[in-house]
Amino acid sequence: MTSPFKRLRDYGRYIYAMDPACKSTFEAIFLYPVVRAMVSHRLAHYFYKKGHTTLARFISQRSRKKTGIEIHPGAEIGHFLFIDHGMGVVIGETAQVGDRVHIYHNVTLGGTGNEKNKKRHPSVGNDVIIGTGATVLGPVHIGDGAKIGANAVVLQDIGPGHTAVGIPAKIVH
Ligand SMILES: CC(C)(COP(=O)(O)OP(=O)(O)OC[C@H]1O[C@@H](n2cnc3c(N)ncnc32)[C@H](O)[C@@H]1OP(=O)(O)O)[C@@H](O)C(=O)NCCC(=O)NCCS
Repeated sequence: MTSPFKRLRDYGRYIYAMDPACKSTFEAIFLYPVVRAMVSHRLAHYFYKKGHTTLARFISQRSRKKTGIEIHPGAEIGHFLFIDHGMGVVIGETAQVGDRVHIYHNVTLGGTGNEKNKKRHPSVGNDVIIGTGATVLGPVHIGDGAKIGANAVVLQDIGPGHTAVGIPAKIVH
């Protein structure tokens, strides 16, 4: 198993490679809010799975205060999530996010309905890009490699490799 330090280093290297505005791996690890948010989320998710939901929520809310990124402890997040800028991102309890997903600020992966113990939030595949201000609502599925335009409101499934823009989001290619 890879050590937490190596995983952190790889995460920093990934962000450095993805963001032309990032000047070093050091900068990525220590100054990018997503890194802090994800370290907190891994811990919060661990406690959530063990049934310590209040402690989990405490960790995630503290992280939200520090980073502006709110990830519910129940959300399942893959490797190398890159939330650029961070501020205003909300990821709900039953959301699932794949690997190498790139999300900009003010994105919501939100729920519809208020039934407990039911999937209410989106599932996002691998290598998806979600533009700033986009809102994805309900238990919809965003396929691998899809792109969601800035400020889009997505209310239905988007197939793999498609680009969706607008309100409500429509596929443009
Ligand atoms: C959706 C997006 C990924 C599409 O990129 P792309 O694959 O290169 O597609 P194009 O730019 O060729 O756009 C395809 C069509 O969608 C339209 N479009 C693109 N983004 C749009 C948006 N956010 N809202 C509405 N229409 C949009 C284009 O005008 C174009 O329409 P046309 O075919 O009638 O000319 C990109 O436009 C986007 O929104 N990226 C998010 C970037 C971001 O949030 N940056 C924040 C940095 S701080």
